[in-house]
Amino acid sequence: MEPIVTAEGLFKFHARDGQKLAILRDVSFEVGPAEFVCIMGPSGSGKSTLLHMLSGLDEPSAGLVKVRGKDMAQLSEEARTLERRASIGYVFQFFNLLPNLTVMENVGLPLAIAGGRPEAHHGEILALLDKLGIASKAGSFPHQLSGGEMQRTSIARALAGGQPLLLCDEPTGNLSQKAGLEVMQILRKLVDDDKRAVLLVTHNPRDAAFADRVAFLVDGLLAAEPVLRGPDIPVENVHAALAALHI
Ligand SMILES: Nc1ncnc2c1ncn2[C@@H]1O[C@H](COP(=O)(O)OP(=O)(O)OP(=O)(O)O)[C@@H](O)[C@H]1O
Ligand SMILES: [Mg+2]
Repeated sequence: MEPIVTAEGLFKFHARDGQKLAILRDVSFEVGPAEFVCIMGPSGSGKSTLLHMLSGLDEPSAGLVKVRGKDMAQLSEEARTLERRASIGYVFQFFNLLPNLTVMENVGLPLAIAGGRPEAHHGEILALLDKLGIASKAGSFPHQLSGGEMQRTSIARALAGGQPLLLCDEPTGNLSQKAGLEVMQILRKLVDDDKRAVLLVTHNPRDAAFADRVAFLVDGLLAAEPVLRGPDIPVENVHAALAALHI
């Protein structure tokens, strides 16, 4: 099956103090439909940078990103935006919800921005909120939610357009153990039941153990070994892999 997103030979350079720093070095990588992939690595190793390249928040210095087989650099800006918007949802550590909008309005906002009428999607959005266990919060404002509920709202917002891939950058980093575990169980269910794909960046071995595949990014390089494969990766194996890479 065609991957949803493919990185081929990605490089990212930044200038600092007159020096050219390689933040990503020849990273090749793909995420297929209904796959749950995790990337771990030390702080500053380039994980968020990689997600930015894949989602189009930033452009690679060299190499290419394909979304559902299309080379993003070959598309017009408008076609690129449409393809990415249809294919990829993004969730951050900080939930980035708009405080003056309800859960329903926050989740419908990307559809409105894309030119749709959120009311037309009311039923679908409610079904998604129900799947995420927050249907009863549809009329609540962000300040009336727990951290876990805020993160589930931002997951709903990222997927409301039917995107097959969800990129998650430390989605449990700001949550309690319990709320974080609930978010991970929801991500797993989205893969198993809904056939969405998830690309997760985390520092938490417990979260990584939910994935089907765990890869490690060190100094901008994707380590060839070890790559852990699920299902049911023992959390001790994640700890052992981190120790082996001195992470
Ligand atoms: N605009 C920029 N200019 C210069 N350097 C940058 C820029 N953006 C990121 N960097 C550097 O790139 C490196 C990788 O950053 P990145 O945010 O991708 O790391 P990360 O793996 O996500 O770390 P963390 O686990 O702390 O979130 C860091 O050394 C960072 O300082
Ligand atoms: Mg980061």
